[in-house]
Amino acid sequence: MNICIILSASVVVLLSTALLPLLNNNYLLNLRTSSSSSVVADLLVTNGFIYTSDASLPFADSMAVRNGRILRIGNYSSVQDLAGYGTEELNLEGKVVVPGFIDSHVHLIFGGLQMVQVELRGVNRKDEFVKKVKEAVTNMKLGSWLLGGGWNNDLWGGELPIASWIDDITPHNPVWLSRTDGHMGLANSLALKIAGITNYTEDPTGGVIMRNTGGEPTGLLIDSAMKLVLSYIPEVSVEDRREALVRASKHALMRGVTTVVDLGRYFPGASIELSWEDFSDVYTWADLSGEMMIRVCLFFPMETWSRLLDLVHKTGRELSQWIYLGGVKAFADGSLGSNSALFYEPYIDEPHNYGILVTESENLFNMTLSSDKSGLQVSIHAIGDRANDLILDMYELVVSANGMRDRRFRIEHAQHLAPGTAARFGEQRIVASMQPDHLLDDADSAIKKLGVERAQKESYLFHSLLAGNAMLAFGSDWPVADIDPLGSIKTAMKRIPRGWENAWISSERIRLNEALNAYTISAARSCFLDKDLGSLSPGKLADFVVLSTDSWDEFAAEGSASVKATYVGGLQAYP
Ligand SMILES: *[C@@H]1O[C@H](CO)[C@@H](O)[C@H](O)[C@H]1NC(C)=O
Ligand SMILES: *[C@@H]1O[C@H](CO)[C@@H](O)[C@H](O)[C@H]1NC(C)=O
Ligand SMILES: *[C@@H]1O[C@H](CO)[C@@H](O)[C@H](O)[C@H]1NC(C)=O
Ligand SMILES: [Zn+2]
Repeated sequence: MNICIILSASVVVLLSTALLPLLNNNYLLNLRTSSSSSVVADLLVTNGFIYTSDASLPFADSMAVRNGRILRIGNYSSVQDLAGYGTEELNLEGKVVVPGFIDSHVHLIFGGLQMVQVELRGVNRKDEFVKKVKEAVTNMKLGSWLLGGGWNNDLWGGELPIASWIDDITPHNPVWLSRTDGHMGLANSLALKIAGITNYTEDPTGGVIMRNTGGEPTGLLIDSAMKLVLSYIPEVSVEDRREALVRASKHALMRGVTTVVDLGRYFPGASIELSWEDFSDVYTWADLSGEMMIRVCLFFPMETWSRLLDLVHKTGRELSQWIYLGGVKAFADGSLGSNSALFYEPYIDEPHNYGILVTESENLFNMTLSSDKSGLQVSIHAIGDRANDLILDMYELVVSANGMRDRRFRIEHAQHLAPGTAARFGEQRIVASMQPDHLLDDADSAIKKLGVERAQKESYLFHSLLAGNAMLAFGSDWPVADIDPLGSIKTAMKRIPRGWENAWISSERIRLNEALNAYTISAARSCFLDKDLGSLSPGKLADFVVLSTDSWDEFAAEGSASVKATYVGGLQAYP
């Protein structure tokens, strides 16, 4: 397609239409099986304001769909001859349409499970926290685990919760409540007892058991220390996890998300097996029984790279139109909120703490080297400035060992970057997979933990990354933040944290089309799905979202819009 760039948009439409039979197998098949020589669309979408995310034709008003794929896109006169017997028409009455959103970072089944647990997201007072737990425990069988999460201590001033807040009201039920970032959780005293955590339990590698001044565990466990308790929580049944997928998919569709990248394991200490069990018990089941509603690209724990490689050899990357095997994921550091993201300078509120490296570096290097050598895509979680530099250095070493190739290494979060680091993403062709909505709460927290100046220089550098030609992919990290691409797009455009009036680091705001691209075409490239997804282009899958607005200009200025309808493969999937 390089040649097209120098041609005008109108020629490109003609050219790509002419090339289509050569490029698209489905189309060829249609031509062969069709008795007449003319192809008839299943669906004609007309009278819209369609943003395509395709640089060769950024806007169109009509689109023809056949067999779930886009046959042609342009103005009405260019698609009308594809109408025929049985063609449905969707008149958009001027509404704005965008490609189906790709959320580049979710934990889908975990999120679906959390939808029916104690929901502590947004709780901003200690007594409300306690009240929610009390309500939830009322109807529970004695002895069963009360699970929940989403709490954020920054919303009530920073004080960390401790077991004694809830011990009185939960004497007979062990409790586990994870923090919104998944890097910390609160156990009540019964849960600590069941897990055998006492004054004498040592911190595991890569984790911390929080203690009071007397050396007694408070109930808070950080990063890999969480697994001390988690290993005692009974497994969620397969049935529950299947329901969670269905619930989560509906939630995603409601927000215009038609594809997610599922990073699987939620935090460093979580079981390696979980992603594989979800793959075989939930995703494969859903695919075979026709329950898949959104497309997923799956990442697996890097420790299991050879298992993924075997699978890819057997099945290929594309199991069906719904399930793509992505690559492998590992963790470099923890999170800012839990003071475990790795920085060059210490945390202001903990002057001896620089954060932690949660995966031993030689082991991480070995695994990355092997995964990459075998052709798998590699993705590593890095939040602090030092963690990001360490991973970029390591990626450089791996490239020099394994040779140049289109490998699209990813860094998940890339949240705080030292001066000069943003440019390295473009130079080294690294994907920055970022979650704009995290900045809504992180702004205050980053300023408190890093200081105004460091926070200002380093945080969520969307514009600098794009200016350096980085591949920028947006997502939510659901259930850490809600799945909400339109909300995130506005956040990236405005950068106004909760309770603030002005932008935080206004020079790093980006434009609507840049934010949309990070949720569509650039997200698709970031997991090698751009052949099928990411833009409304001839031959690609017809996943699109109809927005409530009919004014692109207003949308571009305000960043506000809501989802009116979501289509997957040319079929209405929401509402
Ligand atoms: C429709 O689009 C085609 C190709 O882009 C262009 O040549 C033609 O002039 C357009 N027609 C109208 C009515 O805008
Ligand atoms: C643990 O430490 C606390 C505070 O120092 C003390 O009161 C308690 O008795 C200790 N528990 C055990 C089992 O040693
Ligand atoms: C990493 O790989 C090297 C070379 O194969 C090996 O000598 C070393 O023990 C490995 N280190 C770890 C931590 O696995
Ligand atoms: Zn995550």
